[in-house]
Amino acid sequence: MSAHIQIIRDGATLRLTMARPEKKNALTGDMYDAMREALEDADASGEVAAIVFDGAGGAFTAGNDIGDFLKYSGDFGQSPALRFVRAIAACQTPMVAAVDGVAVGVGTTMLLHCDFVYAAPSARFRMPFIDLGVVPEAAASLLLPRRVGMARASEMLMLGQGFDAKTALDMGLLNAIVEPAELSRAALDTARALASKPRAALRETRRLLRGDSADVLARIDEEARLFAQALRSPEATAALNAFLARSKGG
Ligand code: COA
Repeated sequence: MSAHIQIIRDGATLRLTMARPEKKNALTGDMYDAMREALEDADASGEVAAIVFDGAGGAFTAGNDIGDFLKYSGDFGQSPALRFVRAIAACQTPMVAAVDGVAVGVGTTMLLHCDFVYAAPSARFRMPFIDLGVVPEAAASLLLPRRVGMARASEMLMLGQGFDAKTALDMGLLNAIVEPAELSRAALDTARALASKPRAALRETRRLLRGDSADVLARIDEEARLFAQALRSPEATAALNAFLARSKGG
């Protein structure tokens, strides 16, 4: 349970809304745990045909809470962030995302695990791992070049370049650009359309489209090992502290 994740079940669709708008829906441990549990429950019950992710207040998510990165001290393999990322990669239920505003870090990488992604014209995507002194996560280092080609993946992950909705659509990361007022409806309509399909055939079709998840899960663990090491580096500590100092007006 998290006060910052709204979970709404409507028939066979499940909507997970990241709702910490004062922090651009930056994800805390509790938020990751709530979303992971919802994904695992949906898969286990077999009663949910499709899951929708969206964000409150005109943002999708600004990614992992930066303060939490600095507090990290334990076993990264058991961190809520990594457990969520593993869960979304292993999830067998079709997933749909509606991106309004910023989608940073995991806000972009989680989209690689979704089957349908809609975004508002003003959506902005960025995976700033390199500038934070860390490495990609959620198997982005594997899935992004597969999806958009090595040249563009290098721009995003080695230069940390952000991109807009039009670019994301052209690269094949989005299904459509939708005006903000229609965005949630577009995602929910797709979820309902999925829910009207034969359930077992839908899951098998998804599994066949996505292929074996073993290499994805192995990459997630390799990235996580390197990420945990990098997080302790002077470069990462300085970059993360600089963001927090800026936030406090320091
Ligand atoms: N962790 C913690 N707090 C965050 C956050 C994050 N990832 N992203 C945003 N916030 C907070 C800001 O500190 C600010 O808090 P404050 O009002 O108490 O100062 C509030 O959310 C609003 O953010 P702000 O930066 O003022 O909004 P913006 O529209 O100018 O910029 C972003 C939005 C997302 C571009 C910018 O906040 C940002 O770059 N965030 C960090 C993203 C990031 O690096 N995530 C980790 C990826 S691995």
